[in-house]
Amino acid sequence: MENKFKRTLVTCALPYANGPVHIGHLAGVYVPADIYVRFLRMRGEEVLYVCGSDEHGVPITIQAKKRGCSPQEVVDEYHHIIDESFKGFGINFDIYGRTSSKVHAENASAFFKKLLDDGKFITKESEQYYDPEAKCFLADRYIVGTCPKCGAEGAYGDQCEKCGSTLSPEELINPKSKLSGAEPIKKKTTHWYLPLQDYEQWLREWILEGHKEWRPNVYGQVKSWLDGGLQPRAVTRDLDWGIPVPVEGAEGKVLYVWFDAPIGYISNTMELLPEDWEKWWKSEETKLVHFIGKDNIVFHCIVFPAMLKAYGDGFILPDNVPANEFLNLEGEKISTSRGWAVWAHEYLQDFPGKQDVLRYVLTANAPETKDNDFSWKDFQARNNSELVAIFGNFVNRAMVLTHKYFAGVVPPLGELQDIDREAIGQLPQLKESIEQNIRAYKFREALKDAMNIARIGNKYISDTEPWKVAKTDMDRAASILNVCLQICAALSTVFEPFTPFAAQRLRQMLDCTLDWDKIGSLEALAEGHQLRPAELLFEKIEDAQIDAQLARLDSIRKAREEEAARQAASVVAPQKEEVSFEDFEAMDIRTATVLEAERVPKTDKLLKLTIDTGIDHRVIVSGIAQYYSPEDMVGKQICILANLAPRTIRGIESKGMILMARQADGKMRFITPSEVLSNGAQVG
Ligand code: MF3
Ligand code: ZN
Repeated sequence: MENKFKRTLVTCALPYANGPVHIGHLAGVYVPADIYVRFLRMRGEEVLYVCGSDEHGVPITIQAKKRGCSPQEVVDEYHHIIDESFKGFGINFDIYGRTSSKVHAENASAFFKKLLDDGKFITKESEQYYDPEAKCFLADRYIVGTCPKCGAEGAYGDQCEKCGSTLSPEELINPKSKLSGAEPIKKKTTHWYLPLQDYEQWLREWILEGHKEWRPNVYGQVKSWLDGGLQPRAVTRDLDWGIPVPVEGAEGKVLYVWFDAPIGYISNTMELLPEDWEKWWKSEETKLVHFIGKDNIVFHCIVFPAMLKAYGDGFILPDNVPANEFLNLEGEKISTSRGWAVWAHEYLQDFPGKQDVLRYVLTANAPETKDNDFSWKDFQARNNSELVAIFGNFVNRAMVLTHKYFAGVVPPLGELQDIDREAIGQLPQLKESIEQNIRAYKFREALKDAMNIARIGNKYISDTEPWKVAKTDMDRAASILNVCLQICAALSTVFEPFTPFAAQRLRQMLDCTLDWDKIGSLEALAEGHQLRPAELLFEKIEDAQIDAQLARLDSIRKAREEEAARQAASVVAPQKEEVSFEDFEAMDIRTATVLEAERVPKTDKLLKLTIDTGIDHRVIVSGIAQYYSPEDMVGKQICILANLAPRTIRGIESKGMILMARQADGKMRFITPSEVLSNGAQVG
């Protein structure tokens, strides 16, 4: 650690308590943070690891409305599910707090009050959408309408989920309140704003000059925000769920969720360490690191730092903000609202004891520099051909052979050969590389290094073949197995941050403790040390398990497609221009019965129908073959427009038109009287 710092405060983005966490959250934020924290702890450093639920915000109130319960009930449920999921994956925060706590309400409120009293806010009056029936202002998410970009229905006031465009409520065509369905009106309201533009120069110096080492995606986003010019940002909202604005006359207003949530990091620290929290937040000797996903960059690199700067009083700023890009699932964007996700708590049920496998795959495939994809086939392949076939296989051979030939006692090292020195000689450099990569937030690379140690072991034991050597030269077999066991001990340490459950089981088998300094030293396990029985570290994952997961995703996809089809079908065409009664009267609409029907050759849409109109038998060609077969039509009573000018279609003269009702998706049905009438009965 650079001498400047004595301790590290690691925060993880507070997940919204409006749904469980999924693999995207794990890969983007929590697994990398956990690797980092476990590593620093293993190196004996002082670390505080803070997270909690983000329990305010509009999506939570929408969820509550949908269910007919209070927002508090929603967050209570998810807070516990999320908390349990983290624990299940071995992600053990020092505190997992919540922003609906009393400590946080007081702290966030006091924070706002101080900024207000210090004159750090401006107020602005603006016009916002208001629901005249529900009598409240409408958050962007509460307004739906037609997307101006792609024409999809049901776009939200802040975003169209169909085409992904960012929108403002004013842009929506035909805006409607989600609460009452009423058309929203504009109404004046006053809010507090943090004038971000006042901090622009300072942010430029601090980040663009001072933190060129930040990840390119983070640095780039910050730069483009700053180059685009900062605007005042509202820190309050008209809403009834959140922390009330601590100002007289501000009834019905709460702190904006993105104002209160980051303060939650501080509140949660206070809750854990009421006496001692300041040493973590106000000491230049503390290194602050925020782990987040890319959609949180602006809040953690611009808004929250500006809030802390405005507050003053010695608050430290992040030393780094290692934000990840997004993880997709089987080629599609993960979406909580559409159910397209692998949920952490469901994984724990479906794959008991396999937390490490997911941690491993999400790290090996982490979206550190670009969006990445999670696929179940890749998950299976990485388990079976990496964890099982390399890491697990090597450890198992070393353990089993030591039990077989040496009663599970570490045999003497004896005299080393070149091949032994070569194998063990690669470890110190890999150990160094793991450390550097983790400290530089390059967890994929660090994991590759760790896996390379397993590869070295696996290759070494295959090349030296101790099971053959043992038949003729027990001393040499002893040397080989001693070297293998030293490598196993190294693995039990280097894998601690990545696959902590397997690493711990391996240390139990070896009966050793975490010892970073002994990696590659040939002294990790002493001659004569008694090992415990061998167990398998990893198990193969069979096709059936993967197929079950793929089937689940397929059914989600199908349900979504069906829903989309239903939506497409329900679109209603706008009313046509007015016509006079005379115009209508001019049309000769009457009942008729189909006598004969056949397909028009070489077309797939057309049927040729011979019909009895009451006045004559005539032929009509109709484009309904996709919906009716000839057999369907024969004998049916239908309605026709009899006096439509004849047309020749495919060489057949068609006299009139069959009346059809047509849905937006093209589906058609013919119109028939509710009871059979005589042919030629007038419709009108
Ligand atoms: N709840 C936010 C999200 O999931 C993250 C909040 S991070 C905090 O995107 F800093 F505001 F707490
Ligand atoms: Zn759109």
